[in-house]
Amino acid sequence: MNLDVPWWRDAVFYQIYPRSFCDTDGDGIGDLEGIRRHLDHIVRLGADALWISPFFRSPMADFGYDVSDFCDVDPLFGDLDDFDRLIEAAHTQGLRVVIDWVPNHTSSAHRWFSEARSSRDSPRRDWYIWRDDRSDAQGGSGPPGSPGRLPNNWLAAFPGVGGDTFPPAWTWDPGTDQWYLHFFLPEQPDLRWGNPEVRSAMADTLRFWMDRGVDGFRVDVAHGLGKDPALADLPPELAPLPVASINDRSETHPYLAELRGVLDAHQPPAMMVGEVFLPTTPQVARYYGSADRPELQLSFNFPPLFAPWDAAVWRQRVEETETSLGPERWPTWVLSNHDQVRHRTRYGGSEERARAAAVLLLTLRGTPFLFAGEELGLEDAVVAPQQRGDPGGRDGCRAPLPWDASADHGWAKGSPAWLPWPPEASGARNVAAQEADSDGILHLYRRLLAARRASPALRRGTWSPLDAHDGLLACLRHHGDDRRGVVVNFSTSPQPIPATVAGWNVEVASDARPAGPGLIAADQALLLHPAH
Ligand code: NOJ
Repeated sequence: MNLDVPWWRDAVFYQIYPRSFCDTDGDGIGDLEGIRRHLDHIVRLGADALWISPFFRSPMADFGYDVSDFCDVDPLFGDLDDFDRLIEAAHTQGLRVVIDWVPNHTSSAHRWFSEARSSRDSPRRDWYIWRDDRSDAQGGSGPPGSPGRLPNNWLAAFPGVGGDTFPPAWTWDPGTDQWYLHFFLPEQPDLRWGNPEVRSAMADTLRFWMDRGVDGFRVDVAHGLGKDPALADLPPELAPLPVASINDRSETHPYLAELRGVLDAHQPPAMMVGEVFLPTTPQVARYYGSADRPELQLSFNFPPLFAPWDAAVWRQRVEETETSLGPERWPTWVLSNHDQVRHRTRYGGSEERARAAAVLLLTLRGTPFLFAGEELGLEDAVVAPQQRGDPGGRDGCRAPLPWDASADHGWAKGSPAWLPWPPEASGARNVAAQEADSDGILHLYRRLLAARRASPALRRGTWSPLDAHDGLLACLRHHGDDRRGVVVNFSTSPQPIPATVAGWNVEVASDARPAGPGLIAADQALLLHPAH
């Protein structure tokens, strides 16, 4: 281990959505003990760190992203002792543990919000963002608390099950005759980060978990914390979008720098990876801060995730990431998570593509994040309308993880799992079946992670694109005297391997389909090393 390189730069992260990983107590919902029992799967995969989505006390309006106590475990998932056992076991097995942290909002059931809404004079009132009705003079009309009197034109994030328009980002509180702001559900009122008491209370929640041994935090809606103090209307071209997807305010940066100070002051220091859900990579870049005032160590960068399976688009997004982040700000790469349709499904369902995408993801310059189940080649589950529960319509990617082919798929006997199983869970798409298939996608992921671990060029080297035929994305990775070539064929026909790497040896192929001498098959990817 090179001590000059922080661990999270060399790491591969594995995201666990705890409801969906493994149930051990028979309620049909995954739990912390289910994660502990399956740590060996993650170790064998070769990942270095976990990111665990929220398991805090919550009424579950947004499945845990509505936190009613930041410093306790929801009984659905276990208790603090379970968490302590999990983190100890993870550390013993060499895995770092990063947990979700949801600073932009609390649950409306949080004690802070109950106090805040109890009266306009409550000492907690100013912890949230309240506004009066829009007056007649400001263009308001209608009875108090009616849509004609909304404070501004901001929209919240979720259209609701089956809905297709976004609701207002304000909810009327009839007890105190004011609106409160929520970027997400009405059950998720936004905290007022301009209030130093809020910042101090939230910093305490970080210390609570650092003292329990966590290695870092995935910061939910990191770009959302600062709000326009004037709460001005958005211009017409932005007004139809949820405000959470475009809120990019200078006010946020000092808050993140302050949080970074809290993490750095702890022994050992912890890291944070921010969810900066903004449309362009240059915007994302700013959330790393600067050398003299650092903010996030890592940030998610979603433009590549939203790229279709298309070599030219991918090349443009990778190059833009390289140039916008530059040498100092370390990139991250992610294809799937709990908010998006799984990439195998997005790319049309083909296993070959999912396998080629794995080679792409794990050979770019930066820290990759895997979403539990992608190593099995899972597709989204088909969720019938009456089974859908997520206000954002994201149920399909959150389907439970099948551990074996049995009826319960390795989950405790008891209530059925909270969502339907993903396709082929009784066939090839479970951990046991994939274990047994040395040509399967699970073993491909293991080979790729092992190759990464063994190659300084893959972990830390430069990324330079190679001239290649249309439909190919090819690059060289280079560190010291270690070199690798990567060729990904996004097209539907075989293509010539670019000349620079044409004679190189195949270290990992996404699949074994032969394409003929000097060719790469359709939807195939190759990791190459120089012939000696
Ligand atoms: C982003 C999280 O990833 C998503 O699942 C959640 O609904 C919103 N933030 C609100 O917390």
